[in-house]
Amino acid sequence: MLELKNISFGVTEDADEKEILKDISLVLEDNRFIAITGPNGGGKSTLAKVIAGIKRPTEGRILWDGQDITDLSITERAKLGISYAFQQPVRFKGVTVSDLIRLATGNSITTADACEYLSEVGLCARDYINREVNASLSGGELKRIEIATIIARKTKLSVFDEPEAGIDLWSFSNLISVFEKMHSQIKGSILIISHQERILNIADEIILIADGRVVKHGAKEDILPALLGTPDMMQCRFGCQEEC
Ligand SMILES: Nc1ncnc2c1ncn2[C@@H]1O[C@H](COP(=O)(O)OP(=O)(O)OP(=O)(O)O)[C@@H](O)[C@H]1O
Ligand SMILES: [Mg+2]
Repeated sequence: MLELKNISFGVTEDADEKEILKDISLVLEDNRFIAITGPNGGGKSTLAKVIAGIKRPTEGRILWDGQDITDLSITERAKLGISYAFQQPVRFKGVTVSDLIRLATGNSITTADACEYLSEVGLCARDYINREVNASLSGGELKRIEIATIIARKTKLSVFDEPEAGIDLWSFSNLISVFEKMHSQIKGSILIISHQERILNIADEIILIADGRVVKHGAKEDILPALLGTPDMMQCRFGCQEEC
């Protein structure tokens, strides 16, 4: 179980303090599929990075199964079972796709298994397994490779930041199946940041974040109809300071 207790995150911009996350408290239970959504700039990616250990909160504590992990690095958190896929994945010159999947699983898999993970995200394994994870990969290819590494890792908490970004329309349905399968097969929670209704629709819980705060958190059945029924809700009602 992941607990966020009064998490705030601020940066100094032109000598001014800017608060990006404002006193966020959340409890994420085990074995749940949780979607985070909300307007652009609301703080979703920042929250994911705080959970993964890429950014340290300015205030508040993070507990993982009761252990205080606030001061642990991304690597230490990964060892405890938290994996994270970037909104814009990182490229690793000199590292092949095969290396990356092996690293994710702790070197314990065969090439055939690595290929299996690539096939799951719709990539022809033969064409990609020995490719370098460098600038020659397209954005969508890179995104899928990163998703494959997280699936291969099978950690207790997998965080995906907008996995749909850059994925073509034809592959999107397949991506939904990948997450559904992952949810049914792994013992662990999936936390997905998404703007896509079809992803929100397969979640158990939805968290709406806007202006650095949790605006709503509850069962999909309770949150989604209100989100969809109010077209301007995502853009204005929670995101803007002024009236739209
Ligand atoms: N280092 C930083 N310095 C200044 N502002 C920052 C910094 N990091 C993030 N921000 C700002 O914090 C806000 C939240 O950013 P974040 O990336 O978390 O939003 P988001 O909800 O993920 O948005 P999107 O839906 O567009 O991905 C944005 O206004 C962003 O410009
Ligand atoms: Mg983001």
